[in-house]
Amino acid sequence: MTDPALDPETLRGRAFAALTTARERTALLTSVEDPELTAQHSPLMSPLVWDLAHIGNQEEMWLLRAVAGREAMRPEIDGLYDAFEHSRAERPSLPLLPPAEARKYAAEVRGRVVDVLENASFEGTGARLTQAGFAFGMIAQHEQQHDETMLITHQLRRGPAVLHAPDPEPTPPFTGPAEVLVPGGPFTMGTSTEPWSLDNERPAHRREVAPFFIDTTPVTNAAYQAFIADGGYDDPRWWTPDGWAHVRGHSLYAPLFWFRDGGQWLRRRFGVTEVVPPDEPVVHVCWYEADAYARWAGRRLPTEAEWEKAARHDPATDRSTRYPWGDADPAPEHANLGQRHLRPAPAGSYPAGESPLGVRQLIGDVWEWTASDFLPYPGFSMFPYKEYSEVFFGPEHKVLRGGSFAVDAVACRGTFRNWDYPIRRQIFSGFRTARTPEAV
Ligand SMILES: [Fe+2]
Repeated sequence: MTDPALDPETLRGRAFAALTTARERTALLTSVEDPELTAQHSPLMSPLVWDLAHIGNQEEMWLLRAVAGREAMRPEIDGLYDAFEHSRAERPSLPLLPPAEARKYAAEVRGRVVDVLENASFEGTGARLTQAGFAFGMIAQHEQQHDETMLITHQLRRGPAVLHAPDPEPTPPFTGPAEVLVPGGPFTMGTSTEPWSLDNERPAHRREVAPFFIDTTPVTNAAYQAFIADGGYDDPRWWTPDGWAHVRGHSLYAPLFWFRDGGQWLRRRFGVTEVVPPDEPVVHVCWYEADAYARWAGRRLPTEAEWEKAARHDPATDRSTRYPWGDADPAPEHANLGQRHLRPAPAGSYPAGESPLGVRQLIGDVWEWTASDFLPYPGFSMFPYKEYSEVFFGPEHKVLRGGSFAVDAVACRGTFRNWDYPIRRQIFSGFRTARTPEAV
């Protein structure tokens, strides 16, 4: 029996839609004056014009050269846009394509890719790359990941707002339980069937997880403010030795972009200064801050396996679903994704997106730090290039799960794994906490 989801016309349509959505978002994020595009708004980030041409260059390399066997369009620029050859801090000093040329190059690549896609068979030699449209899905995800990166650049940029989006729909205050018990036992972690999943999400394997409690919603700004008010940043008891050295060495006192004005906390968000909303999930905290908060609260961060079990395992069927709400692709009622809003929605939003056990906002809103290092699953095999994940495996990176408001649905699912250094906080990172039940 043929899976209708793998029908070539369905795949072609899905790939085209994913690439088009990504390019519309890229266009919006780069629709600023040329000096804004070429400026480096933070040494942590590339100039936006680098992201733009890099998006085109990766697309050319994978979809025109690797899939379609075409010659390089501009071989002399490959090195400039190789993320491993030049650090972000170094990129502004490179002879980058000027804005008009970068736009033209990315558009020319896309025009040719559309031709390739129209004739793609999704099978044949090199089948693994094109199977179920994988390479097209990988490139759409790559562009969306850079769209998230470019949104971070916009957040770091100084000056008046240039991006606008409606706020999330108001939601009644959440009155459900603060935590949920996830029963112990094995569950299926990772995937072997999700067609556009990336190598680090594979393969599906059984994982034993002991019973644990997990927060029903991400930790809010109000809860985090209680940690600050209680002297959390000044008390070494809550911090790992590395975390304490970092928080002291960098004089951290609150999430990034927060500052104190008289009796209240304000924050800078995409060019606007506002009172920190108490009911929103906290965002722009590093792993050390999340870990310290959890210890202060008498809790801990969930492991990656715990997070995924809470997000995907349906105890009624013992099956892992694609998302907390089931197998359906994300819709606006499920989760805050895709830069539809430029902020997280209040904690407890999206009841239609909750897991079978009632855990909310696992997908969207804020990336959630987990306790776990970024490591390969048993049976991992690198594909299609080792710089995608393999070179990042190790204890220096912590795993984040669930995606943020800045992530598009194509680059977010119950199995999707993100990772970063424990000091990073310009990313849209928050967390929820867990605890082990007391022995009876
Ligand atoms: Fe990239």
